[in-house]
Amino acid sequence: MTKTLGLIGAGNIGSALARLAVAAGLNVVLSNSRSPETLADLVTELGEQARAATPAEAAQAGDLVVATIPLSSYDKLPAAALAGKTVIDTMNYYPDLVGHIAELDAGGLTSSTLVQRHLADSRVVKAFNNIDYVRLFTAARPTDAGDRSALPIAGDDTAAKAHVAELLDALGYDAVDTGTLADSWRSEPGTPVYVQPYLPAQPEDLSDEEKWHWFLETPVVPVPAAKVRELTATTVRRTAGDTRGTLSQD
Ligand SMILES: NC(=O)c1ccc[n+]([C@@H]2O[C@H](COP(=O)([O-])OP(=O)(O)OC[C@H]3O[C@@H](n4cnc5c(N)ncnc54)[C@H](OP(=O)(O)O)[C@@H]3O)[C@@H](O)[C@H]2O)c1
Repeated sequence: MTKTLGLIGAGNIGSALARLAVAAGLNVVLSNSRSPETLADLVTELGEQARAATPAEAAQAGDLVVATIPLSSYDKLPAAALAGKTVIDTMNYYPDLVGHIAELDAGGLTSSTLVQRHLADSRVVKAFNNIDYVRLFTAARPTDAGDRSALPIAGDDTAAKAHVAELLDALGYDAVDTGTLADSWRSEPGTPVYVQPYLPAQPEDLSDEEKWHWFLETPVVPVPAAKVRELTATTVRRTAGDTRGTLSQD
């Protein structure tokens, strides 16, 4: 059972996960690219279950560790400190935002496989990558709630996936196992399960400012496990980095 969640990255996704984890009774150790001091406001907001540390310290402290930084910095993740750990990879490949990664542009490799290559002594599980950071927080529901959503997870280690599924349950989600890291393209940007199903249709003719307010305020559309299974099973592979049709916030 996870008691402490280590977070490498404390931005939109990292802070949403930290809030859910604290609400679920877990301790969180947060880190970013600057220094623990820069996370003081977030730590204060989260309360006594939270502290800030360096990425290597967050890696060592976590029973589970989340890597939630721009994918362009994946090779900065502290591989030695993460050795032996299960690492949740939330990262998506948006070359226009974070720059091109030649191995992914060459085709055939999922972004999570690349992360696993860097973290050769860790067990990488892809999760939390297919829902936007607002809905990640607002869609969470207790086990057995009628409007609970599911999220896909993928990884090469069965026990690690079970551990991550347990975390998802504690944070408010069902998990749907979509296969190995090589299969994890099924939830990458541009696929049917990516972000859009958790949102209602956006009204037409909104200004940019109205679109932003709509994104922040629109309620979640619950996506049950059966729907996640259907969407991930029927998808067709895209070229890595082809993010057409996805929301720019991701
Ligand atoms: N935004 C979404 O809705 C969404 C949804 C699903 C998945 N994702 C994916 O999840 C990841 C995080 O997204 P985000 O929106 O949370 O990003 P974000 O708000 O830009 O936050 C990124 C965080 O990573 C930290 N960071 C950057 N480089 C680091 C390093 N080398 N070591 C430690 N920490 C580092 C940053 O710290 P500093 O501020 O100190 O630089 C910051 O705390 C991305 O890969 C994104 O593609 C995002």
